[in-house]
Amino acid sequence: MNSRELRQKYLDFFLARDHAVISSASLIPENDPTVLFTTAGMHPLVPYLLGEKHPAGTRLTDAQKCIRTGDIDEVGDATHHTFFEMMGNWSLGDYFKKESIAYSWEFLTSPQWLNLDKNRLAVSVFAGDGDAPFDQEAYDIWAGIFRNNDLPLDRIAKLPKKNNWWGPAGTTGPCGPDTEIFYWAGDPSKVPAGFNDDNDLWIEIWNNVFMQYNKNAAGRFEPLVQKNVDTGLGLERVLAVMNGLADNYQTDLFRNIISKIEELSGRRYDESPEITRAMRIIADHLKAATFIISDDKGISPSNTDQGYVVRRLIRRAIRYGKQLGIKIPLWTKEIASVVISDYHDIYGELGKNRQLTLASLDKEEEKFNRTLEKGLAEFYKLSGDINGVTAFTLYQSYGFPLEMTEELAAEKGIKVDRDGFMSELKKHQDLSRTAAAGKFKGGLADAGEETTKLHTAAHLMLAALRRVLGDHVVQKGSNITPERLRLDFSHPEKMTPESIKAVEDLVNGAISSHYPVTCEELSLAEAKNRGAMGVFDSKYGERVKIYTIAPLQPDGHPDFKQAFSQEICGGPHVENTGVLGHFKIQKEEASSSGVRRIKAILEK
Ligand code: SER
Repeated sequence: MNSRELRQKYLDFFLARDHAVISSASLIPENDPTVLFTTAGMHPLVPYLLGEKHPAGTRLTDAQKCIRTGDIDEVGDATHHTFFEMMGNWSLGDYFKKESIAYSWEFLTSPQWLNLDKNRLAVSVFAGDGDAPFDQEAYDIWAGIFRNNDLPLDRIAKLPKKNNWWGPAGTTGPCGPDTEIFYWAGDPSKVPAGFNDDNDLWIEIWNNVFMQYNKNAAGRFEPLVQKNVDTGLGLERVLAVMNGLADNYQTDLFRNIISKIEELSGRRYDESPEITRAMRIIADHLKAATFIISDDKGISPSNTDQGYVVRRLIRRAIRYGKQLGIKIPLWTKEIASVVISDYHDIYGELGKNRQLTLASLDKEEEKFNRTLEKGLAEFYKLSGDINGVTAFTLYQSYGFPLEMTEELAAEKGIKVDRDGFMSELKKHQDLSRTAAAGKFKGGLADAGEETTKLHTAAHLMLAALRRVLGDHVVQKGSNITPERLRLDFSHPEKMTPESIKAVEDLVNGAISSHYPVTCEELSLAEAKNRGAMGVFDSKYGERVKIYTIAPLQPDGHPDFKQAFSQEICGGPHVENTGVLGHFKIQKEEASSSGVRRIKAILEK
């Protein structure tokens, strides 16, 4: 089975069970200051898990692009990736444990669908602790299925929160016990009688989360009114399993990329464990970089936030390319071209942004090539542990991301003073510490009151920018914390003080006009006709939510024709602009070429 068939089968299965197929959201989260990337399929759906109504209904399914950099050091083995696709199905207050488990079992084992050997499957459920009880319900459902299929009940493991709980780490939000499904990748005639978490041959292929709690600010787990199901099936892993492969890099999702690396380096993938590892890292990192740069939010390599991650990925790939002996100048785009041709019909943005992506890789590679050789020479001259000043010099003068220095140091058996590096960094520039320190963990949006207000203010500001600067202004990214909003938008030059003032005045005018904020669900075509702002290149005939900020007609209804702002958006927003306070732009600066960035606040 190839990846296309598998992706389609998953969506078809859930479509036939009344799920709406929705398209993948961007890799760059909107309005979520807690993470740099979309790390799971549930991520873009958080508002709906918290109770907002989704325009497509209460049963959803999709293939979501994801980036996880938390496991970056494990990339190089057979199953970890920075970029991966997560197949998911969701119930938003619709079905719960019984149906969710039954769907997964049917999809995996039915001869009509994946037809996996039942005897090679095992599962785990939440064992219970002081916060929440043992998930008896999930256990009983599985026990029924296992009994009916003459499978040993020892293959249903009860594990603690560390294994079988999903939700925000340390913060508030929806969460709950999960049940994981594993496939035995070892000898099919020697499947162990019971499941053992320590045995790597049991590969996790699916995670069904039962979101039945909300972790409140006091750290208590209170039952949610709307009980949801959030599942995630790793496409790469299941594809490998379906093809009897222990190595994801031998599936069609990587085969062409690896062949290209073999061609460029003149080495063979299976020549030695070191070469296999280097090729996997290059394949993984450049695939991830290609997807991030091609994302419609327009990320390019830089020293902050997502840009820093892309830089790290590209530079690490280049270093491993050197290790493989690749001599061709500017070769990273060759790999990106393969990624684009393999995926562009599934993820249209790859084809659309092809030229920009290849040019961006060339530029980054050229830049790094100028200093890499010298930097390595400097590095190998060092003896003993590396202090903060030296690590900073390698970063500043030779372009070595801190993590690369740490990796080189580990190979040499020496240490790097990370804290010392961070304080040097702080001394030298106003660089986003969160990015450099690795803000890579999962988390959930802060849907607090201040964030909601700033979100509405961001809509007003975008509309005002278009009035003052022109219709070429479109949103390129946004990030909102409880303290401020940040919006990136297309505009070729620095704004004048007059135009900044004009934007502030328009926004404050809209605030003092007390416009109501209304939400409607429309088809994409209708939304487009209305002239709403937003992303329109969706693949499926989806319905979307439009937030309109408009004055009232004499009859008391919003006058949509006179709308100040209309945007496709998931929410949430305030009900009336009157509550926002006083809007003020704090900073206007360049973000990347042709893109400006504004930071603004609301004063009480
Ligand atoms: N949120 C869960 C995960 O990422 C299931 O989708 O594993």
